[in-house]
Amino acid sequence: MSALTQSAAWQALQGHAKTLARVQMREMFAQEPGRFGRFSLRLGDLLLDYSKNRITTKTLALLLDLARAAELEGWIERMFRGDRINTTEDRAVLHVALRNRSNRPIQVEGVDVMPAVNAVLARMREFALGVRGGSWTGFDGRRIGDVVGIGIGGSNLGPEMAVAALRPYATPHCRVRFVSNVDGAQIATTLAGLDPATTLFVVVSKSFTTSETLANARAARAWFLGKGGAADALDKHFVAVSASAQAVADFRLNPARRFEMWDWVGGRFSMWSAAGLPIALGIGFDRFAEMLDGAHAMDEHFRTAPLNANMPVLLGLLGVWYTNFLGAGSHVVVPYDRSLGRFPAFLQQVEMESNGKHVTRDGAAVDYATVPVVWGAPGTDSQHAFFQALHQGTAVVPVDFLAPLESHYTVDGQHAMLLANCLAQSEALMNGKTAAEARAELTAAGLDGAAVERQAPHRVCPGNRPSNTLLFRRLDPRTLGALIALYEHKVFVQGTIWRINAFDQWGVELGKKLAGRILAELGAQEPAAGHDASTNGLIDYCRQARRPGG
Ligand code: F6P
Repeated sequence: MSALTQSAAWQALQGHAKTLARVQMREMFAQEPGRFGRFSLRLGDLLLDYSKNRITTKTLALLLDLARAAELEGWIERMFRGDRINTTEDRAVLHVALRNRSNRPIQVEGVDVMPAVNAVLARMREFALGVRGGSWTGFDGRRIGDVVGIGIGGSNLGPEMAVAALRPYATPHCRVRFVSNVDGAQIATTLAGLDPATTLFVVVSKSFTTSETLANARAARAWFLGKGGAADALDKHFVAVSASAQAVADFRLNPARRFEMWDWVGGRFSMWSAAGLPIALGIGFDRFAEMLDGAHAMDEHFRTAPLNANMPVLLGLLGVWYTNFLGAGSHVVVPYDRSLGRFPAFLQQVEMESNGKHVTRDGAAVDYATVPVVWGAPGTDSQHAFFQALHQGTAVVPVDFLAPLESHYTVDGQHAMLLANCLAQSEALMNGKTAAEARAELTAAGLDGAAVERQAPHRVCPGNRPSNTLLFRRLDPRTLGALIALYEHKVFVQGTIWRINAFDQWGVELGKKLAGRILAELGAQEPAAGHDASTNGLIDYCRQARRPGG
């Protein structure tokens, strides 16, 4: 057994979970009228109701003991002061510096990073103002009307999610779209209909070696040159965001058109850096800065609030409770706001690339579950898709509901309907429907005794299904920034409890390398060898059955 699972705090939680096994949340609510007040937390514009969880005051106390045993407060301090907590890559983890609006000095190797951060923000501002204001024009003097962000993973998911979420703040004269996948369909359909003279490409890659991004950037450059753009006009239409000036130059993009990133910014935490340039181009730099403000407010809360009144800490600990003590294998996020449609996909990377680890910081195998599968989709659509399984399936799937109180769109009472659905789902999941209630309902509907008995089991909803509800006034840049930072820090809390390095992603490398080798084999004359029989067989099938050159 590992030190963690042997620890007093862990063992106490295991014992406590057994005592709660038969307790229903509906009984807890019946016995504790003050439960909402006790288990909810307000922070600025955000309300977190975590009362519909299978917890008591004791559960929280024990989870907080677990956090203390993991030295969570010390780890938070280490991150904020720039220690090299990403040990396998020997790097600091300082996305918080990118939105450090207080300008408090943050040192990496004795050098304050804030002047460099502020300088890049100032360049982004100037560039965004130029493009959006029309002083930065395309090669024929017309203003830029379309921006295409090219990048993948952390260089895409956050910016793409934010641009969609903040569409009400977008200006129609500067449309932003994204290309991430190496599936040529995406770049082909994105470029169709665009005018090279009025299109700006923002190529975002921290490493500038990611094959998908470079392939799409190459395709974009070929399209630009093939559609009348001159080689000496590339400078006006391509900018790069990268930590590597050399790699940008090797790709034959002008290094003077590079916006800098730093090795202490993890890809999945990079939307606050120049990787967020497409956001600033879409909604304006001042709005982008409001996102930074919102995230900074959450950072300050995370850094200074006591653990028991700390939103990211509570969310993280609740996740640990379900994952490690109540057997949950997944976690679903359901925004009741369609503009947050990409939020679950964004969170998948933040959570699963960070905490999808099987060894501790010291390299010892864990003997406990780490990250659950994170998934989700907007309500109310998802109510008509996967909610049946949440209500009556056999797995415990904790849910995070997110909803704004006000919509940007006024469509005759529909926002109230949306909100009502959100609140109804958490109530239904918690309360469920007992056999007695099902029978009473069927009897009232006029069914005879035998039919009631036949039907009742199918109508029973076990209930006791946990959820958090996060409400906020409206989805504006500041609130979005705070929400994202909330989940980023939740991930940090969980990684700390699980004793893992949440900031590397070595697992992604294996498949990347193999893809390079298989790409060569797909074009070869001779049969594949050196893989397993299945992979060899599939390569050969593709080699023989597909049209060459595609
Ligand atoms: O998916 C692996 C990964 O390394 C992510 O962590 C990163 O966000 C993404 O690839 C893109 O990397 P880059 O910004 O270097 O192109």
